Amino acid sequence: MYPIVKKRVLNETVTLMEIEAPLVARKAMPGQFIIFRIDEEGERVPLTIAGYDREKGTVTIIFQKVGYTTEKLDSLNEGDSLLDFVGPLGEPTKTEGINRCAVIGGGLGVAIAYPQAKALHDAGAEVDLIVGFRNEHLIILKDELEAACTNLIIMTDDGSNGNKGFVTQALQKQLDAGRNYDTVIAIGPLPMMKAVCDMTREPKIKTIVSMNPIMIDGTGMCGGCRLTVGGETKFACVDGPDFDGHLVDFDEAMARGRMFRPEEAKAREKHIC
Ligand code: FES
Repeated sequence: MYPIVKKRVLNETVTLMEIEAPLVARKAMPGQFIIFRIDEEGERVPLTIAGYDREKGTVTIIFQKVGYTTEKLDSLNEGDSLLDFVGPLGEPTKTEGINRCAVIGGGLGVAIAYPQAKALHDAGAEVDLIVGFRNEHLIILKDELEAACTNLIIMTDDGSNGNKGFVTQALQKQLDAGRNYDTVIAIGPLPMMKAVCDMTREPKIKTIVSMNPIMIDGTGMCGGCRLTVGGETKFACVDGPDFDGHLVDFDEAMARGRMFRPEEAKAREKHIC
């Protein structure tokens, strides 16, 4: 069993938990993920590792209440335990050779952008961290984000923090101002990552995206997480989750992401409403 040693509500829909999982903490790297199961009857859910403490033997996860399992996870408290916590899975983000970059996080992608920005910043890279939220009340991890970059830009859809617009607009502004990034890393909803790739294609800026498709086994066997990248079939769980964004077939990924929406809505309705 994997005890929850810390629970922190970040905003009305997003929660952070620290899970005691020493073997996972020992090998975890930014960009990798875990798959958890709450109990015998639970579904397997992948979550990107948001942080880890090798000495304490803990792994941090951040999740949004979007369905039955994440609602159930959110109902647990410090002292409760998860049945399974498998990882670290996937390939770590490759940080070598990155000296000046923009890390872009939209929505819950901010939680994943944070450890990646921190790893790059700690390695000496100049990091512009551009994050977006719907409004100022949903802003999470502000202090942590500030400490993980050279320059933090927080955008809100409604402008309630005084900075109205999308992360893509902030990126465009940086590019127009002559910021010559060697790499852009985008993490968040598929349309946002696609838009970032469209902006960086012509100036030929290497762009890494973190793909989060439906996953089942997380070990490359079920095919649930397959994507087309550069005309080849790839599995996000073993070949990714990071990929060259300019080669990803986003339209196919978006269509596959919509496949189980009716079933997801039904499960949520059945268990929660
Ligand atoms: Fe099954 Fe990736 S989750 S192949």
